[in-house]
Amino acid sequence: MRQHVNPLSQFFQLPLLLPSKNVLFNKSHYPIHLDIGSAKGEFLFELATKYPDWNFLGLEIREPLVTLCEKKRKTLKLSNLKFLFCNVNVSLDKWLSDLDYGQLRRVSIQFPDPWFKRKHFKRRVLNTNLIKSIAKSMSNEGEIFIQTDIFKLIEAMTNTMDKSRYFNRKDIGAMRYIDKNPYNVMTDRELFSLKKNLPIYRAIYMRNSLLFID
Ligand SMILES: C[S@@+](CC[C@H](N)C(=O)[O-])C[C@H]1O[C@@H](n2cnc3c(N)ncnc32)[C@H](O)[C@@H]1O
Repeated sequence: MRQHVNPLSQFFQLPLLLPSKNVLFNKSHYPIHLDIGSAKGEFLFELATKYPDWNFLGLEIREPLVTLCEKKRKTLKLSNLKFLFCNVNVSLDKWLSDLDYGQLRRVSIQFPDPWFKRKHFKRRVLNTNLIKSIAKSMSNEGEIFIQTDIFKLIEAMTNTMDKSRYFNRKDIGAMRYIDKNPYNVMTDRELFSLKKNLPIYRAIYMRNSLLFID
């Protein structure tokens, strides 16, 4: 399986119409947790099992991973979990606009592809447009959780979040980054980084309810 795909290539720039929440979930009124770049889905399999009163959606640009996750999900008979193939920067906005206001409660973006070269920064998944789309569907209870083991990347991500002003960083006192995953469930990459003793930088942002978006 390919390690990376170029999200700016023509193929991945084609918008896909994602199935609505009513088609995806049996209990479509439950709060939603969206995991962007869900890869092998381990994080969501565990959360969906632990929290049956939430709906979980994993979005992933590498289609073979989505096929594998969906196969496993069906075997486990989890009806509060779905995985969809898409480029979130192209297809998510429309899907979010059909949700009830405030229903989107959590978004996680964990260990996103770093795209180290400056000329590739525009391939990074977290950008102002994505933050705005997410903010539109969230009430002040909504949160975005981000984590990575690359310092320059967390700095870039927090800068983008701060500049957007749609979210406020959760105050953690003197510490710059939170030291624990708030959901107590780890992703594949998180486990890998912990095993290798790599530092992990984590931040939570809450929706700034004073900033309206038309
Ligand atoms: C380094 S992996 C991390 C996977 C997982 N979140 C973890 O922590 O183990 C980043 C994932 O994001 C996916 N991804 C990158 N850009 C994306 C985009 N624009 N839309 C959807 N998924 C994307 C990649 O294919 C990859 O599976």
